Amino acid sequence: MMKIKYSLHTLRLAQALLATRTRQHRCFSGAIEKSNNFFFRQLFDTESCTYTYLLGDSDTREAVLIDPVLEQAERDAKLITELGFKLIYAMNTHMHADHITGTGRLKSLLPGSRSVIGKSSGAQADIHLCDGEAVRFGCHQLVACSTPGHTNGCFTFVCHEQCMAFTGDALLIRGCGRTDFQEGSPETLYHSVHSRIFTLPDHFKVYPAHDYKGQTASSVGEEKKYNPRLTKSLEEFVQIMDNLNLPYPKKIDESIPANKVCGLF
Ligand SMILES: [Fe+2]
Repeated sequence: MMKIKYSLHTLRLAQALLATRTRQHRCFSGAIEKSNNFFFRQLFDTESCTYTYLLGDSDTREAVLIDPVLEQAERDAKLITELGFKLIYAMNTHMHADHITGTGRLKSLLPGSRSVIGKSSGAQADIHLCDGEAVRFGCHQLVACSTPGHTNGCFTFVCHEQCMAFTGDALLIRGCGRTDFQEGSPETLYHSVHSRIFTLPDHFKVYPAHDYKGQTASSVGEEKKYNPRLTKSLEEFVQIMDNLNLPYPKKIDESIPANKVCGLF
């Protein structure tokens, strides 16, 4: 009798252990599947030094593009088609002043895709995002995080599950976007970066809208340590930003009106 009781107890214990292991296995498998079906490609426009990012779910084939450039729209559409993705969102981190967005052209080339931009940008789009809202593609999502300062309507798009932040012009690699036009404010930018980007975990990768020195990515921890502007005090940062004496952007007069309507069609 005792032997049977012991056996039942052992059996229950074994079942409990098996259930725990199965749960762990399921969680582990889920994590692997999430990584395995996440597609990522960084693209570059040599004239404006803009990075465009293609993100996709390789199971559902849904994809999004971040910061496409008008002159590269055909390239991007061809790649998306070749890879068998369906573009659902063409997104902009902000209303750019240095190039015309490819969003409008991509909507024509890939019917069914919709333009996305932050509501505070003041630009037209199919979808306007507010702080904390997310866009989904397959089982992945990008959360819109308001990071004004370069412009009023700048957003950083964060993919928490993949530990990635698409920072637009708010935070560049060892730099940041200028603050001397388009409602720019160094105080606001400093606050945005410190409160919304530098509060992400250090290992989160930083993917900016531009780089002029051939750097492709950084991390939150790296920028917190080595960014020559944003490691300074607010007062020093404002002083730096107010004395950059940058030239008037070449394409601003054609870019802003076009980007207000989310690009040329
Ligand atoms: Fe910009």
